[in-house]
Amino acid sequence: MRTACLSLLLVTACWALPFHQTGFLDFMMEDDAGSGVTPDPKGSGPSGEPVGPKCPFRCQCHLRVIQCSDLGLREVPADIPDDATLLDLQNNKITEIKENDFKHLKGLHALILVNNKITTIHPKAFSPLTKLQRLYLSKNLLKDMPANMPKSLQELRIHENEITKIKKASFQGMSQVIVMELGSNPLKSAGVEGGAFTDLKRVSYIRIADTNITEIPKGLPSSLSELHLDGNKITKVTSSSLKGMKNLAKLGLSYNEISSVENGSLANVPHLRELHLDNNALTSIPPGLPDHKYIQVVYLHANKIAAVGTEDFCPPGFNTKKAMYSGISLFSNPVPYWEVQPITFRCVFDRSAIQLGNYRKK
Ligand SMILES: *[C@@H]1O[C@H](CO)[C@@H](O)[C@H](O)[C@H]1NC(C)=O
Ligand SMILES: *[C@@H]1O[C@H](CO)[C@@H](O)[C@H](O)[C@H]1NC(C)=O
Repeated sequence: MRTACLSLLLVTACWALPFHQTGFLDFMMEDDAGSGVTPDPKGSGPSGEPVGPKCPFRCQCHLRVIQCSDLGLREVPADIPDDATLLDLQNNKITEIKENDFKHLKGLHALILVNNKITTIHPKAFSPLTKLQRLYLSKNLLKDMPANMPKSLQELRIHENEITKIKKASFQGMSQVIVMELGSNPLKSAGVEGGAFTDLKRVSYIRIADTNITEIPKGLPSSLSELHLDGNKITKVTSSSLKGMKNLAKLGLSYNEISSVENGSLANVPHLRELHLDNNALTSIPPGLPDHKYIQVVYLHANKIAAVGTEDFCPPGFNTKKAMYSGISLFSNPVPYWEVQPITFRCVFDRSAIQLGNYRKK
């Protein structure tokens, strides 16, 4: 059965990819993904002429998916089918995106350029891509955010580049974005201009981890449900930085230099469920936890917290929390753990949810 398929594919591959040295694995992949896609010899014209679509040399084209990854390409291939919906160019050696590289690709939904050596993108290169939803540019050498990204974008991944600044106009008009990954860029100090995210009215996930920004970006959209700012140099959480974020459910601030959380900060994020503040410089439990109705997970390990009071986590008396805690970590703090009263955790789902000492309590 398999041998039959293989020999059929050998025939089809012969005219689809002339002189192409294809390994056995490639055929297997074609076998898996290409059933009914690679034109069957029976589907060829009576003359025996193939009716195969065009496909860039050495790439694989199935349906409207163009796979050109890991080919050592130094530029975007010229003969990409006009009706392509996904173009995968990852793991190549492309250094530049030129003005006309994507000229005819009006139906493209996803463009994957991860792990190349791109330093420049022509400001008009993305203009034809009016249907583009996913743009993956991570692991390149970009020093600036690309200009004129498609307004149709829903997902932008551009981490591990050399971008030093996110300007106010960087994401102008990109109102469809849902996911944005900007981590591991050398953004330094206040590397995100205030209002840079204002136009992202639908965004639900932003990650700016490992960039060395020194403050929580200003003007974050209220649609956000996850904000990951771990591994930066943020020194404090101010209540104004979280103002109006009524949909925020997860806030990641691990591995920063946070020494204070301003009173009122947690009240600004009423639907927060997870707060990661481990590996910071906090000297006390953040204020506002007992009044918070939904928070369930609070990571506070590896800080400088010297005291834990009985009213720090739970409301006094009758439990007004709508959800019990399911995870609290406090280990690697200078607090004498034997002095922490068990009643402190009266609104915790189960004792095993608390990590107190330098080990996990069973
Ligand atoms: C952040 O700063 C540290 C030094 O404190 C440096 O080693 C690291 O490369 C910086 N990260 C970025 C992304 O610039
Ligand atoms: C924090 O704010 C609450 C009211 O929102 C107030 O009752 C409390 O005293 C404040 N705490 C501090 C330390 O300012």
